[in-house]
Amino acid sequence: MNRSAETRSFGFPGAGAVAPGGDRSLAGFVDALDTATAAGAFPPDTADRGRAAAREIHAALSGPRDATPIRPARPGACRHLGRALVNARRGPGPVARLADAFAPLADRLHWRLRPPEEGEDPAFRSGHANADVIGPAGLERHDDIVVGVSLLAPGVTFPDHRHPPEEIYVAMSAGDWFDEDAGWRAPGIGGLVYHRPGIVHAMRSGEEPLLAFWSLRRP
Ligand SMILES: [Fe+2]
Repeated sequence: MNRSAETRSFGFPGAGAVAPGGDRSLAGFVDALDTATAAGAFPPDTADRGRAAAREIHAALSGPRDATPIRPARPGACRHLGRALVNARRGPGPVARLADAFAPLADRLHWRLRPPEEGEDPAFRSGHANADVIGPAGLERHDDIVVGVSLLAPGVTFPDHRHPPEEIYVAMSAGDWFDEDAGWRAPGIGGLVYHRPGIVHAMRSGEEPLLAFWSLRRP
């Protein structure tokens, strides 16, 4: 993983600033996500675009956000979250700190399942959960950006999908990411993944659960 002094932070500490009445835990998470993203590395073939997207997203996050009242929900796959956080805390420092910053938010989120699809693997249905952290169904809403989290039980594949916005992931676990340009590859704990707009992509866990944060512009 490439690290240098100048990439230790994107330098948008305002993203984690707490507005009056704001959510201090969420602000800490945003700061930790910024640091972990700056510390991580994209694969070389997507590094330039990934880095640019990450900078734009984290700069935008320093703009105003509005608190969103949500009802917490925890589908069954959330039972794997504790194990995923244990593994993340064994990772590089910025990943461990991001896991610590996320932990107090996890029970407040409205975790959800993806809408069912015909022919879907039953193991995926019972073995996944997603949530917005910042977004329409998140703890705070931002006009332009969604920051979310995905969790997979061990041995589960999140199926092929595509969407117009480009997307970046911070891998908090071992696991494999697929895109139609590069095929499957393993970014490693703390590694970053960039998906160009509209690309078909997927991910899968191995013997341990997979936890990842993703960020994209609202379509
Ligand atoms: Fe995606």
